[in-house]
Amino acid sequence: MKTIKHYLEKAQKEKFAIGQFNFSDFTQMKAIVSAGEKLKSPIILGTSEGESKFFGLQEAVALRDIIRKKTGLSIFLNLDHGKSFEYLKEAIDAGYDMVHFDGSKMPLEENIKTAKEVVKYAKKKGVLVEGEVGRIGTDSSKLYSEKFEIKEEDLTKPEDAEKFVKETKVDLLAVSIGTFHGIDISGVCPNLRLDILEKIKGKMGKMGLVLHGGSGTPEDDIKEAINRGIVKININTELRVAFSGNLRRFLDNNVEEVVPYKFLALAKNSVEKVTELKIKMFGSENKAQ
Ligand code: G3H
Ligand code: ZN
Repeated sequence: MKTIKHYLEKAQKEKFAIGQFNFSDFTQMKAIVSAGEKLKSPIILGTSEGESKFFGLQEAVALRDIIRKKTGLSIFLNLDHGKSFEYLKEAIDAGYDMVHFDGSKMPLEENIKTAKEVVKYAKKKGVLVEGEVGRIGTDSSKLYSEKFEIKEEDLTKPEDAEKFVKETKVDLLAVSIGTFHGIDISGVCPNLRLDILEKIKGKMGKMGLVLHGGSGTPEDDIKEAINRGIVKININTELRVAFSGNLRRFLDNNVEEVVPYKFLALAKNSVEKVTELKIKMFGSENKAQ
């Protein structure tokens, strides 16, 4: 099987993005994999610290291996938004393919220092590292009813990104360009700052950039971002909404239904549909060859 590095380079060259789809249970994982299989797309399966603590790092790796063997699909595991070297080390030791060190709340120098430690350890094991500079608005992949505002000072400063990448030698960089984690239920979409993305890319050379907070971002913006150097896009909230929304409605209306494989099939189907839409939007269909 080709490596994740191969697919990220291919994405850069052919201008598409690989979706990172987060999961915390096996039904979601199966749904994401089914979509990838159907559309022949490389897939990154993401787990945050919370998601991986619930699912189990070793369990995620074991299932990735079984699914790879069974389907031949190019699926990769990423530890998303790891906040400490210690936890990322655990994920690397368990067998994750890549890790995302999120030191975005630290001062730049401290972010650089810890990212360097992560890179040093990961490289020895052939694991890729995603760093992050700038603060991506909001912390959780959930629905927001209260108003929040993306502050200019939280957006990635191109010169900070350049310094970070040069000093840490990360493989990918997550940037803050106007997206936020979660969905604003009043219908406010992220205001993507393509001007900032262009400036960052101008200083990055071949470095692949990552867009977090992909849920709720309009298709045109996603395509423009891919044109300007985004090679990986993270999606979580839309999958969570698809999973829980339909399930909640179904169980409320069918109080006598207690067979998990019946009602979970419905949730799987909803998550699969959203994943398929995103794969098509990101242009990664038929790229897993
Ligand atoms: O790291 C995970 C993502 O950035 C997910 O963001 O919940 O807005 O899709 P999202
Ligand atoms: Zn994120």
